[in-house]
Amino acid sequence: MQISVREYQKRRRHLLDAMAPNSIAILPAAPVRPRNRDVEYPFRQNSDFYYLSGLSEPDAVLVLIPEREHGESILFCKEKDPSFERWNGKLTGQEGAINDLLFDDAFPINDIDDILPGLMEGRNRVYYSMGLDEKFDRHVMEWVNILRSKVRSGAHPPDEFVALEHTLHDMRLFKSSSEIKVMRQAGKISAKAHCEAMRVCKPGKYEYQLEAAIQHVFMQEGARSTAYPSIVGGGENACVLHYITNSDKLKSGDLVLIDAGCELDCYAADITRTFPVSGKFSAEQRTIYEIVLAAQYAAIDEVRAGQHWNNPHEAAVKVITEGLLEIGLLQGEIKELIEKEAYKKFYMHRTGHWLGMDVHDVGDYKIGGEWRVLEPGMVMTVEPGIYIAPELEDVDDRWKGIGVRIEDDVLVTKQAPEIFTMDVPKEVDEIEALMRGPC
Ligand code: GLY
Ligand code: MN
Ligand code: MN
Repeated sequence: MQISVREYQKRRRHLLDAMAPNSIAILPAAPVRPRNRDVEYPFRQNSDFYYLSGLSEPDAVLVLIPEREHGESILFCKEKDPSFERWNGKLTGQEGAINDLLFDDAFPINDIDDILPGLMEGRNRVYYSMGLDEKFDRHVMEWVNILRSKVRSGAHPPDEFVALEHTLHDMRLFKSSSEIKVMRQAGKISAKAHCEAMRVCKPGKYEYQLEAAIQHVFMQEGARSTAYPSIVGGGENACVLHYITNSDKLKSGDLVLIDAGCELDCYAADITRTFPVSGKFSAEQRTIYEIVLAAQYAAIDEVRAGQHWNNPHEAAVKVITEGLLEIGLLQGEIKELIEKEAYKKFYMHRTGHWLGMDVHDVGDYKIGGEWRVLEPGMVMTVEPGIYIAPELEDVDDRWKGIGVRIEDDVLVTKQAPEIFTMDVPKEVDEIEALMRGPC
């Protein structure tokens, strides 16, 4: 674990301090999800739960109760069970929750129906995010109904339910120095993997073979999972934004777009590079690529404290629209083309998103209807692109099927933006040199 248990404890303290008096917060762990018959998907903890606990087990519930005499941070988790552990590996147990994870109090998860209604009793406000886990929603309703059925004996069911996210997600938006360390490392590993894909790429290979090269580096470097399914799109597949089939043969003369990032200790990296399958850009590919690259540089330059969230997007849109106008893919007057969003025919997504424990991380983009002002500690992606789909009308054939995106992970600091993913080249000459090198 690269984040210390003290840090998890501090996060719980911070949230407890932000909660209303006489309230309770309830946060369940992620469920195990079935894949097929009795095979399950690899378990991935819910990010909010992990952020507050450091526990990566299912069948657990975290409860926070400010000012509770016998302890404010409580964990329900599985009881130690030698025969279960012989099959499935070690459990934390209640002693571990208190001694190792620094919870104030811990109970067996099997006792939750008996204990939780009592903990809810008399609290006015329940912080619980309804609608994310249907099965758990039903449990919460049952616990409330137990209290309702006892009002004539003086029980006080809660008056209001409030989503937990608002405060918690604002905390997650600002990365601590240890979170930044992990994200830097995730960026480095992912950059190394992209370099490897460039090195091993050649015509005739399949898209999934580049995916395999990337995944091999992730695993070798200790990142056991991708942060999201890798996109490896050769030729016009690069114009399909969420292409994850990755099954086609790579052809000489095409570009290949790879969007892949590892997950390290529950923190995501998110990199896209686009490069020529044969190692050399054609004139048209290079032209489009250079526009996207210039847009990305302009956008990264806007990732500064005091700028607002939309500044990088506006900078990218301007450079892309100018570029498309210059090469004749758009016609008209620059200001009007931007106002009418004419670029959306070729650039239909936004320039980035928050990045953290989730690849599309939590945190508000607007506050009071206004774009959020960037502050040190926020991490975002910067990922402009141009996609010239083959079916587009009024486009010269020579541009068709070219899809380019360039994506890096950027930290807002007090000074210049820090790029976590800069170890993988993105200049045309650098990419071509790397691909020429010995394999
Ligand atoms: N890989 C997902 C994204 O770039 O947003
Ligand atoms: Mn991406
Ligand atoms: Mn992204």
